[in-house]
Amino acid sequence: MSNYHIKNLEEYFQVYRKSVRNPENFWEEIAEEHFLWRKRWDKVLDWDFTKPEVKWFEGAKLNITENCIDRHLVTRGNKTAILFEPNNPEEEAQHITYNDLYKRVNKFANVLKSKGIKKGDRVCIYLPMIPELAISVLACARIGAIHSVVFAGFSSNALATRINDSECKMVITSDGSYRGNKTIDLKGIVDEALRECPTIENVLVAKRINANIQMKVGRDIWLQPLLNEASEDCEAEVMDAEDPLFILYTSGSTGKPKGMLHTTAGYMVYTAYTFKNVFQYKENDVYWCTADIGWITGHSYIVYGPLANGATTVMFEGVPSYPDYGRFWEIVEKHKINQFYTAPTAIRALAKEGLSHVDNHDLSSLKILGTVGEPINEEAWHWYDDNIGKRKSPIVDTWWQTETGGIMITPIPFSTPTKPTYATLPFPGIQPALMDAEGSEIKGNQVEGRLCIKFPWPSMARTIWGNHQRYKDTYFSSFENKYFTGDGALRDEVGYYRITGRVDDVIIVSGHNLGTAPIEDAINEHPAVAESAIVGFPHDIKGNALYGYVILKDTGESRNQENVRKEINQIITEQIGPIAKLDKIQFTQGLPKTRSGKIMRRILRKIASKDISNLGDTSTLLNPEVVQGIIDEAL
Ligand code: PRX
Repeated sequence: MSNYHIKNLEEYFQVYRKSVRNPENFWEEIAEEHFLWRKRWDKVLDWDFTKPEVKWFEGAKLNITENCIDRHLVTRGNKTAILFEPNNPEEEAQHITYNDLYKRVNKFANVLKSKGIKKGDRVCIYLPMIPELAISVLACARIGAIHSVVFAGFSSNALATRINDSECKMVITSDGSYRGNKTIDLKGIVDEALRECPTIENVLVAKRINANIQMKVGRDIWLQPLLNEASEDCEAEVMDAEDPLFILYTSGSTGKPKGMLHTTAGYMVYTAYTFKNVFQYKENDVYWCTADIGWITGHSYIVYGPLANGATTVMFEGVPSYPDYGRFWEIVEKHKINQFYTAPTAIRALAKEGLSHVDNHDLSSLKILGTVGEPINEEAWHWYDDNIGKRKSPIVDTWWQTETGGIMITPIPFSTPTKPTYATLPFPGIQPALMDAEGSEIKGNQVEGRLCIKFPWPSMARTIWGNHQRYKDTYFSSFENKYFTGDGALRDEVGYYRITGRVDDVIIVSGHNLGTAPIEDAINEHPAVAESAIVGFPHDIKGNALYGYVILKDTGESRNQENVRKEINQIITEQIGPIAKLDKIQFTQGLPKTRSGKIMRRILRKIASKDISNLGDTSTLLNPEVVQGIIDEAL
């Protein structure tokens, strides 16, 4: 039996037990057999959660790009590494082979070097989902520069904050981006941001939309002419296991964004191993994750995890609604996608459009479906299962975080029986614990608590850039000797985990803790409901009461809203109990969402509380325009 590739439930349990009994030995075997090391480690693991400090494979030397590219050249040089599908379906897809990728990454790395970028320097990447994004990430890793990718939907303010926090020397951007039938002036946003970024020396500009943009003399440089001149060979920088690989910002519940720092060897081993198992990747499969590389999902499961396994990974530049809501399914058919990994929010958006966009595409290549980023409600799960997977493709509901680097709780497809809305079982090496409010671990099954992890895993973030104290306070101070995820979870009668949502989203009504996710699930069961969000608002007697924002499906029929309100509360009463009934229901056209599709409850909470004087920064929302509409309806 190989630990590396789990094929059935019995194997999963064997591997899991081994990973917990002797973690060092377990990870050592995986690291030994499947990667290219310039020097072997002296010690597998060194850790102390009180500092906190975690080191994996100390003493080892490697370069992650040699693992993601060079070592595949002999066996799969002509295999497609990155399959680029453009925004416009009329434009041809690009098949970038491992041989091509090797040359393009090396050229890019040489360009970075020629502009003075060295090991340890921070490079901000602000690009749309075009090949240069993946290539520039890998080029940084090739020379040991630390990449900080900022999602190209963030505003100039958000970009400037991130550049300044990690003192980046360079920005890599493009002359603009395509998004559906629109273009976005990325370079203009960069110019605006850079007015307050003193550490930036150069801006490399890729050409994508042929926009007529301003180039600041001495600072801004077109990328292509530099690439044309650059050599195709670039010696990989030999990195220490714990050398930083990248910074990725994630928003905290308070304060400025946290620059999560990930390091080299542990991140590589863990993302590769999880990718292989969670997607059961086979040599000729075509894998597609619809995330943006600006998020952790894209880092770990578009770039590093798939390439470390020699996979073909799809990069899609566009949006699910352009030219119509069938775009995802058209791409699945066109490239014969085998594994499809997306977000619940996308599934719900597509489900709302009905089946006409699905039924005219051949989805028979699909073997495995995945979701990530938020709890998936039961209705969306079944829609995905019935209409996309045709009940033959297991759905892997993968729970993890920017901070965890890789997938932590997930079914292993074809091994772990799935259960709607459950992320199911911990991945090998992951030791979850549910904690009560007093700080004790809750043992046994059919229990609920705060989700912690009690033992280090290789891909955990090592610190918050420039603020180790905040790292300690946020993740290691709530529960002694444990990493606190900030999520609540329950463990069912067989030990399956279900993530109930952020603990900060728990609402206490008359002394009862209510998770927003299960109530939303119940509301979404109503046939007229497309999506919903629950927040708490102050109530004289109960402490908090529940306020529901509900989007109705657009079926063209008129409805008696009072009846729908009653029916929703009836469903909630049936599924959870009268305690979870909503005091107020506001029918609305949209919900404020972050760029990663999460509902911004902070704003909804304020509106529900009629406290709209300071809604905070709404510029990083996906759809800031909906906020005023919600306020107008509420008042
Ligand atoms: O609350 C959990 C939720 O997303 C949070 C992490 O968000 P982020 O760092 O942006 O990373 C998202 C992509 C990995 C978690 O704390 N979350 C993520 N996956 C799931 C989830 N909630 C429920 N089920 C999931 N599968």
